[in-house]
Amino acid sequence: MALRMDGERLLLLDQRRLPDEERWIDASDPLVMEGCIRTLAVRGAPLLGVAAALCLGLLVRSGCTPASFRASAALLRAARPTAVNLMAAIDRLTASALGDDLSGVDEVAMDVFLDDVARCEAMAAHGASLLEDGSGVITHCNTGGLATVGVGTALGVIHRAHAQGKRVHVYVDETRPLLQGGRLTAWELRHLGIPHTLITDSMAAVVLRSGRASRVLVGSDRVARNGDFANKVGTYSLAVAAAHHHVPFHPVAPWTTVDLSCPDGDAIPIEQRDADEVRGASGSFGSVRWCPRETEVFNPSFDVTPVALVTSLVTDRGVFSREQLRAGALGALDG
Ligand code: MRU
Repeated sequence: MALRMDGERLLLLDQRRLPDEERWIDASDPLVMEGCIRTLAVRGAPLLGVAAALCLGLLVRSGCTPASFRASAALLRAARPTAVNLMAAIDRLTASALGDDLSGVDEVAMDVFLDDVARCEAMAAHGASLLEDGSGVITHCNTGGLATVGVGTALGVIHRAHAQGKRVHVYVDETRPLLQGGRLTAWELRHLGIPHTLITDSMAAVVLRSGRASRVLVGSDRVARNGDFANKVGTYSLAVAAAHHHVPFHPVAPWTTVDLSCPDGDAIPIEQRDADEVRGASGSFGSVRWCPRETEVFNPSFDVTPVALVTSLVTDRGVFSREQLRAGALGALDG
C-alpha cells in the first residue's frame, strides 16, 4: 500500500524514489499533499482521489474552518487535470459539507478509501477470466497497489489470474517519460512473484507480432460516456499496434474513473507537463539531460484511445464490449 495513517498523520510512499528507496512523506498538510500530487510522489487516478480525500478528512478532524476546508479542497482539486477520480472524490466531500457543518466529511473520506478497495476487488473478479493459463499480456504505466488502495485495476486483474494458478507472463512497457512501468510495475510484479519482462514502449509492436502477448490490459484516468478513454501517453499507440495484430485490448477502470459529463475523448482535458521530463530524467540516481537545454518539447502526459480500438472495458460494474459501449451502455447506468 502506497499510503497509510500513522495516528493523525497521513503518510505517502514517495513514488519518485522507487524502486531504489522506500521513503515515506508526511502529507497531512494540504499544501504538502498538493505538491506530492503535482510532482507524482503520489499518483495513479484512484489513489489520487483517496489521498486527497483522506487529507481533507484529516484537516476537518483537526478543527479547520469551513473557509479553509473549501480553499484546500479547491487547491487539491486543481493539482492534476486528467484523472477524474481526484475531482470526483473531492466533490463527494464538498457535497457532504452542509453549509458550515463539516461533521459528515471525515466519514465520507473513509468511505472513498473503502470504496476503492471494493471496486478493485470487483474489477479483478470480472477481469481475471480474460486471461488464459500460459498467456502473455502487455501492460502500460502502473496500475497496481501503488495506483490504488486495493489490488489495482489492470494489474489487479493480472494479480487475480496469477492467484488463481494461471501461468501469466507480463510484458511491462517502461512508459516514457517518467518510467512508471520500469520503476513501479516491475517493482510491484517482483514483490508479487509474477513473471515479467521489461520492454521499452517502442518494442510493444514486436512483442505483439511475435505472439508473445495475446492480450493488452491498461488502466485509465478518465473514461468518456462513449467509451473513449484517457490513459498514460503511449496507450494509444499500444492500442493501434494491438488492433493491427488482432490482439484484444482492454482498459480496466473503476466506475469512479467514468466521467459521463464528457461525451467523448475530445472533451477530456489532457495534462501537459514540464519539458525537462522529456529532455532527460531524474530520480534517486540524480539527474541527466540528453539533449540541448533549449530543445523544444511536446509532453502531453496522457493520450486518448478511441472506443473503436477497445475490445472491452472492464469495470467494477461489469465488462462492456465495444458494441455495448457504442450503444451507450455507460450512460444507461447513470445514477
Ligand atoms: O501520471 P500517472 O502516473 O498518475 O498516470 C497513471 C496512469 O496513467 C494509470 O494508468 C491510471 O491512473 C490508471 S491506474 C489505476
